[in-house]
Amino acid sequence: MIDIHNHALNEVDDGSSCLEESLKMLQDAYKEGIEKVIITPHYIRDNSYNLKAEEIKKRFKKLKKAVKDDNNPIELFIGNELRINKYLDDLLADEEVLTLAGTKYVLVEFPFTTYSDDYDEYLYNIKIRGYKIIIAHPERYAYVQKDLHFINRWQEYNCYYQLNQDSFFKHNTRKTALKFVEVGLASIIASDGHNYDRPITLKKCYEFIERKFSKQTAEILFDINPKLVIEDQELKEIERCKRHLF
Ligand SMILES: [Fe+2]
Repeated sequence: MIDIHNHALNEVDDGSSCLEESLKMLQDAYKEGIEKVIITPHYIRDNSYNLKAEEIKKRFKKLKKAVKDDNNPIELFIGNELRINKYLDDLLADEEVLTLAGTKYVLVEFPFTTYSDDYDEYLYNIKIRGYKIIIAHPERYAYVQKDLHFINRWQEYNCYYQLNQDSFFKHNTRKTALKFVEVGLASIIASDGHNYDRPITLKKCYEFIERKFSKQTAEILFDINPKLVIEDQELKEIERCKRHLF
């Protein structure tokens, strides 16, 4: 398995709080069968999680060395989870924020309770610069939970959808997360692991998806598409259980 969304880089956001915690998270991930990881620190322009790409890369290099010294063979890549903002297209073009593993894929998140129509324009600006947008955990946004039709606006920008593994086991997100898989719109499931309490874990969800849907669906969501992201190739679609979207 490959995890494309987590916060295992220490002391850069609300994720891992020290090197020891990062090493343990990555050790546990490898033991569980996660062979590659893209670490995605938050970039939120208006608060303190706004370290520039250069600084993130410097700290990532240190972590990579520490993981090697820890005899952990897990393969690490770096990216950002980018909170939507007006300047994202410029920040990306100027390489001040990171794409996923140096590819054209960008992981974009929105505020959880409110969505401004302006965001559509920001997405458009990112898209026309040639980036491929992956929307982080759409099942967690209140406006998507309320009405799945909301995502029609994102379809216009050929967005992909990354779901969180724990969303399938939580009361408030379960229904929406399942729907994304049923209608064939989910592209990737990732951990969004933050720390000891929110670890980098995928196995339980992999087995759940395999049981509830199919082995092939699990492979696409946890193995094939995350690998295609790293290779900067187009992602595969999963099989639809329901013919019509809504
Ligand atoms: Fe995240």
